[in-house]
Amino acid sequence: MRRSDRHGRRQNASLRNGRGRYECRAEALPQYEGFFAEFYDILHSSYDADLNMYLGLAREHGDPVLELGCGTGRLLIPLAAAGHTITGIDLSRDMLTRCQEKLDIEGKATAERVSLVQGDIRRFELGRKFNLIMAACNTILHCTATQDLLAVFATARKHLAPGGVFVVDFCIPNVKSMIESGGEEEVFEVIHPVRGTRIVDTYKATFDFVRQIETVDTRLEEWDGHSLIRSACARSQRGIYFPREVALALRFSGFKVAKTWKGYRRGPLVQTSRDIVCICKVNTSTPPSEPPSRPSSERPQ
Ligand SMILES: C[S@@+](CC[C@H](N)C(=O)[O-])C[C@H]1O[C@@H](n2cnc3c(N)ncnc32)[C@H](O)[C@@H]1O
Repeated sequence: MRRSDRHGRRQNASLRNGRGRYECRAEALPQYEGFFAEFYDILHSSYDADLNMYLGLAREHGDPVLELGCGTGRLLIPLAAAGHTITGIDLSRDMLTRCQEKLDIEGKATAERVSLVQGDIRRFELGRKFNLIMAACNTILHCTATQDLLAVFATARKHLAPGGVFVVDFCIPNVKSMIESGGEEEVFEVIHPVRGTRIVDTYKATFDFVRQIETVDTRLEEWDGHSLIRSACARSQRGIYFPREVALALRFSGFKVAKTWKGYRRGPLVQTSRDIVCICKVNTSTPPSEPPSRPSSERPQ
């Protein structure tokens, strides 16, 4: 799995308060905390392959927009800057704080179009509906249990306005590359764009094809010359989902998949496709099946 594919829990939703803090005591996934949140932005500083597609979808379907797992605002901020009213929900306080810092620089008009909410995308209630809901950049893969995936889809359906569109994009498992690279340690280096220090990212992924779970061990180190300034480790897991499984989960949750695109240029799916974009609408002819009562992490073991 290529380096840029590796993206990345507890509950309640809370809005950012006036002092720049989020009141929710939710627990973020470790790969989106502290050093990792900062590293996310460094790693994705020039990644915008999906942005034009989302700008186009927002123009076509209109406001308001909701982004599930908005992170540091990689997509949310350009969408707001283009004039869209957008709410972003994320579990990670550190990712949201970085998003807010970038919004503060962006200017008042853009910042006023944005609402940031700290919460769990498997169970939130915003009390309003949206014309476009996005789960971009592999966010759904954080649902390692099927009932979590179903919970996210059920919540999205509840928040979708009549005629609205739910967009899910994720990478298609490349089994050959997973088998070849599984268990191998890989090391990447980038230069910190502000401090000029060297960031070393040591990464090992293992793939369990029976449980369909990828486990990733990451160690980040920041070096100033020969001095180690800081380091952080995280073990994270992601679900391995094939397109048909996600389509079935969407159908089960009361959506119909109106279109599937290969990648972000709206092309047809082909054998070599790496990313898939599902454009979903509410299936008005079939009611959704009963969603799971509680997300997996709350279930007794
Ligand atoms: C791969 S990042 C994508 C960030 C952003 N959408 C982008 O395109 O750059 C996934 C984001 O989903 C968030 N996330 C994962 N599980 C979540 C959950 N259960 N509830 C809310 N946010 C979640 C993570 O904190 C992270 O910021």
